[in-house]
Amino acid sequence: MIVLPGLPRTVKQVIVPPIKCQGIKTKLVKFILSNVSWNGKGRWIEPFLGSGVVLFNVQPERALVNDINPHIIRLYQMIYDGSLSPEEVRKYLTAEGKKLLVSGGDYYYAVRERFNKGGDPLDFIFLNRSCFNGIMRFNSKGEFNVPFCRKPDRFRQAYVTKIVNQISRIRKIMQGKDWAFRVGDWRDVLENVTQDDFVYLDPPYIGRHTDYYQQWSEDDAADLAMLARNLPCGFALSMWKENKYRLNPHIAYYWDGLVERTFTHFYHVGSTENLRNLMEEALLIKPGHEAGKVETTKAAKPVQLAFALHEQAG
Ligand SMILES: C[S@@+](CC[C@H](N)C(=O)[O-])C[C@H]1O[C@@H](n2cnc3c(N)ncnc32)[C@H](O)[C@@H]1O
Repeated sequence: MIVLPGLPRTVKQVIVPPIKCQGIKTKLVKFILSNVSWNGKGRWIEPFLGSGVVLFNVQPERALVNDINPHIIRLYQMIYDGSLSPEEVRKYLTAEGKKLLVSGGDYYYAVRERFNKGGDPLDFIFLNRSCFNGIMRFNSKGEFNVPFCRKPDRFRQAYVTKIVNQISRIRKIMQGKDWAFRVGDWRDVLENVTQDDFVYLDPPYIGRHTDYYQQWSEDDAADLAMLARNLPCGFALSMWKENKYRLNPHIAYYWDGLVERTFTHFYHVGSTENLRNLMEEALLIKPGHEAGKVETTKAAKPVQLAFALHEQAG
């Protein structure tokens, strides 16, 4: 399939990445790609790459992507430069899956310990795809600390094939493209941005995660709003807008005047089908870089924000 450069675009089938993380935008990819306008001539810049699901669906010719989590970037860099092949992943997961089947949790925790000493990208895939709830969490020492999903038969052949196919797919997408991968702070990636580039921002949620790689303060949020507004190119930012309990005050406080597009979805609470909560997600776009009809956000009074933040902390 030939993908035309630039956005907006209608995505029929979302490309799913081999790695899962908190805040993954798989459900929002179609919404994001259909609401952004970009000529595709410059670089697609993602300072907060995470799973890479947005990048793999945009499939830009040129990209600069970054994350503070070195494990994510190392894995994708190795797939990009061919130093890790889908076949190697199949061999590894098949062999390790057999050991998991025999020893269960004990083996999972042995791999976790090995990964926390050596940081092998193959062990990273193993843990990410067999940990509890498919989450990615690191403790204050930067060690992966998610427990086992308690399914010793996790790496059945069909599941291994699914992961290997996800890797083959992204490898094919990356081939021949001019993509640069970087580990570090988001600020460094926003230097030397040019007019034709487009920056997609998906920072961690303020105060939500205690994870080593997901720390995000009020100061970070304020810096990001200031730096983004000074970019010479288009940008879009993802942020949750409203859930069952409250409105996110940061949108109106930091991002007023941007074009706001919203998307509502349900998320499941626990394992029961009928326990569903509504979540509204916003995409805030620099005016002139939105696709279609225009609606802009309104500023909140600072006093309202202080109140809302106090409520949040309480
Ligand atoms: C909400 S997630 C991004 C999710 C991603 N868009 C996806 O769909 O999978 C935020 C990401 O920002 C990264 N991050 C946190 N602090 C950072 C920082 N100071 N600089 C760069 N990346 C950071 C985290 O490691 C995490 O992968």
